[in-house]
Amino acid sequence: MTEPAAGEDGALRFPAGFTWGTSTAAYQVEGAPDADGKGMSVWDTFSHTPGTIRGGDTGDIACDAYHRYREDVALMASLGLNGYRFSISWPRVQPGGRGPANPRGLDYYRALLDELGERGIAATVTLYHWDLPQQLQDSGGWAARDTAERFADYAAMVAGALGDRVARWITLNEPQVVVTNGYRTGVHAPGLRDPAAAAAATHHLLLGHGLAAAALRDLGAEVGVTLDLHPVRVAGKGEPDGVERGRLVTDAIVNGIYLEPVLHGRYPAHAPAGLLPPPALVADGDLGIIGQPLDFLGINYYSPVFVRGGDPADLRRNEVPARSGLPGVVEYRPGHLERTPMGWLVDASGLYDLLTDLSRQAPGLPLYITENGRAAEDYVSPEGEVNDVERVRYLHTHLEAAARAIRDGAALAGYFVWSLLDNFEWSWGYQKRFGIVFVDFGTQRRIPKASARFYAQVARANAVPALPAAWPC
Ligand code: FCB
Repeated sequence: MTEPAAGEDGALRFPAGFTWGTSTAAYQVEGAPDADGKGMSVWDTFSHTPGTIRGGDTGDIACDAYHRYREDVALMASLGLNGYRFSISWPRVQPGGRGPANPRGLDYYRALLDELGERGIAATVTLYHWDLPQQLQDSGGWAARDTAERFADYAAMVAGALGDRVARWITLNEPQVVVTNGYRTGVHAPGLRDPAAAAAATHHLLLGHGLAAAALRDLGAEVGVTLDLHPVRVAGKGEPDGVERGRLVTDAIVNGIYLEPVLHGRYPAHAPAGLLPPPALVADGDLGIIGQPLDFLGINYYSPVFVRGGDPADLRRNEVPARSGLPGVVEYRPGHLERTPMGWLVDASGLYDLLTDLSRQAPGLPLYITENGRAAEDYVSPEGEVNDVERVRYLHTHLEAAARAIRDGAALAGYFVWSLLDNFEWSWGYQKRFGIVFVDFGTQRRIPKASARFYAQVARANAVPALPAAWPC
């Protein structure tokens, strides 16, 4: 890695016009699950199923953003941010997932977009952040090809109604997580543990992305997709033969099954056959639709994955069985890396590697970091402040890595922190806080954390400042 030229004050500067935003998702913040004609989503159903969510939490109220969006937009403006990534709840604007629009649902998003527009905050809108209309799930969900067609219709309908107010569209958020958690392990909605449905859902999500992208581009919109990407690293030098193969297979499983079709119109050679859609599901022309050129790629980065030689039947400290299932290979979590309360490893150099690798794979394709952030055990001090030093440090190191990647050629155009607000963290309910703004869920009071002030400083200066030497680790 080469050192970026720092200013005299030690600050690392970003290119002019860089987007500084935060990211949220409809089910995690909106609440109002049946307001103004909204239909049920799979997350409404799932969160109300006993035993699925910690503490029996649901998204019924969440951050009440359906009613408090003006306050939240004012907060973003007060932080000097120029971007916001949020998602549209499909069943809010098309209750059953097919048929006519629900005008009152569209009105909500139009009002939110107008509020953003008045404050000079550009909207990046995700069309699918996991809340499928329950009625479409009842006819097979993403395991059914029809859902991909319905998704494209919905995308065209929403873009037709709101497109003049939206800077860029994201078709899907993290299809890998939808498939793995929703269809394979069942810890997310719709709670299936069905490998065949998972393999089919993989293809239909990707096809849905491609069909929707084509429909949006016909309307002249800027369009991309957001993938969760995880650099896969080998522990060290001198690993036994077979570990490199373990790395390739793991990379195909966590990244390639989604990235290669989208960037190159093919499924990866190293993916285990059982995870790929059966050839009979892949119609002629599908991969061309999925691999059509995009305007940008959205990247959610949290953690790398590490592999090394080991015995899956006799795991050592910090080792876990490898998802590649290969003999002699294990995954492990290096003891020297910090872990967040989610158990996720903190490793900013993974972000640098990801951005520089992608820029080699897809030269010139604009990249946006559409999520990056961490959970922390935040609390309000007796003085009424939330001093989240771990999150400030996290943002600082990851933004430094992003600045270095840009200097080394990565076409990074924007960064969105996950998240603006503490919110409903899926199967963890309200127990994990990711916001740069603290939410008191009893009163809905918002309290900007130290990280919000730090991030505001970054956005205003368009640069990452040097942290004081005495900053606590
Ligand atoms: C990502 C999700 C996002 C949030 C973060 C912590 O996988 O896209 O909704 O839950 O993780």
